[in-house]
Amino acid sequence: MTSYTLRNASPAKTRADAVVVGIVKTAKGLAPAQGAEEIGTAYGRKLRPLLSSLGFAGKVGEVVKVPTNDTVNTPLLILVGLGDEADVTPAVVRRAAGAAVRVVSNAASLAIALPAQTPELLRAVAEGARLGAYTFTEFKRDSAPSTPGVAEVVVLSSIARQNEAIDAFAAAELVADAVNSTRRWVNLPANELNPPSFADAVREAHAELTKGKGAPSIGLEIWDEERLAADGCGGILGVGGGSTTPPRLVKLTWSPEGATTHLALVGKGITYDTGGYTIKPAGSMTTMKEDMAGAATVINTLFLVAKLGLPVKLTAWAPMAENMVSGHAMRPGDVLSIHGGTTVEVSNTDAEGRLILADALVMAANEKPDAIVDIATLTGAMVVALGDKLAGVLGSDEVVAALKSASETAGEGLWPMPIPEEMYERVHSSKVADLAQHDWVRWGGGLYAAAFLREFTDGVPWGHLDIAGPAFNTGGPYGHQPSGGTGFGLTTLLEFVRAHAAQ
Ligand code: BES
Ligand code: MN
Ligand code: ZN
Repeated sequence: MTSYTLRNASPAKTRADAVVVGIVKTAKGLAPAQGAEEIGTAYGRKLRPLLSSLGFAGKVGEVVKVPTNDTVNTPLLILVGLGDEADVTPAVVRRAAGAAVRVVSNAASLAIALPAQTPELLRAVAEGARLGAYTFTEFKRDSAPSTPGVAEVVVLSSIARQNEAIDAFAAAELVADAVNSTRRWVNLPANELNPPSFADAVREAHAELTKGKGAPSIGLEIWDEERLAADGCGGILGVGGGSTTPPRLVKLTWSPEGATTHLALVGKGITYDTGGYTIKPAGSMTTMKEDMAGAATVINTLFLVAKLGLPVKLTAWAPMAENMVSGHAMRPGDVLSIHGGTTVEVSNTDAEGRLILADALVMAANEKPDAIVDIATLTGAMVVALGDKLAGVLGSDEVVAALKSASETAGEGLWPMPIPEEMYERVHSSKVADLAQHDWVRWGGGLYAAAFLREFTDGVPWGHLDIAGPAFNTGGPYGHQPSGGTGFGLTTLLEFVRAHAAQ
């Protein structure tokens, strides 16, 4: 376990095995960033030519290690690029802090002297360090990561003694823990995490968080397959029917006294997506343990909002199912009845996410919240459109705008996409049921999915985040992002809720 402390101290005089320093591009060339001026002075004139011979350009997240030869109190500098001096935002320092902590190979103590002169920057530095340090090693025989863990991280900040800074530093721990818990659930393989074990894990996390005096009070309800049947949740039951591990629906409620706004979050919880009878090709199936990222995100967002004590009523709905092939599995051509009675003709069992979300959206909308946001690894079409770093955001104009603005504060990439008028006709084109789940028209699959979901929102202002691209990183780590589950969307949802708390 790494301990993190906040201190107002000189980076040149701090004793640590290594110190992280930001480098910015200025009109006069590369220079130490805010917070690291003293290091620059102590190191002397040789720094700039050294960076030049190392080929260091100061790009965001670029890292080099440089010995200090006793010019300062630590033997090693970890220099990390922050890009242009004028553009040092919280998002930039979060990425840089994450990249820097990952190159620490043998240091028991690490000081971080990145720009942290405002509460926002400080929170980003502290979050970046904790997010960058995340690894998933539970299934490694030698669970010690290849680099020995840092025992102590000291974050240096000129405002360290101010209350706002202390609060920001504490919030960073809670936020990073929430993102890292989301990543862990996403990374757990589907033979470990199935709908019942996922629901049990939520129950355990809920018990842990709500026990003891002064703990937040959070409502928890779990629907098993019998209760789902009693409530007519044909979408969740239809999708989950093919698996030996039965489906679940988890609802969490945070209802602080005096809250005037009620927001509902709905997250897709497919613990594994084979595609069902419309089976996926082998290469598209391998990472489908990620298909519950939306559920993990809404659950951890709700726990985080409760820990932070934000004065907004929040409900989180997480339908959980495993999309498998068996004698009990749904077939293309089946008609399912969604909670509330709308019937849906299934034509592609691989478009399962919208079916489980439909039941949960109807339940969420029945409570008449002020807004609903769903988050789902929903369509490959959105990945084709936007790549693997951006999520699509669709839905009611005002909710889309609020989510976009929240994502900018959070430093996550959202891109608004339309729901064209023609989609309405297509969604209503089934010859046998109220709605067509899918129509085999190749184009605009992510937009069709959103138009389908809209049918279940009952006019409640609604936003839909399609995170099929950014939820899971199939490549190597970058910035504060690891390989595998990223926890994408959690900080955007947090800022979205926070903005409603401020109103
Ligand atoms: N879980 C997938 C979407 C997905 C794709 C997530 C890639 C993450 C990465 C979803 O259930 C799915 O299979 N969608 C289909 C929809 C189609 C059948 C209309 C798709 O995108 O191909
Ligand atoms: Mn699918
Ligand atoms: Zn899926």
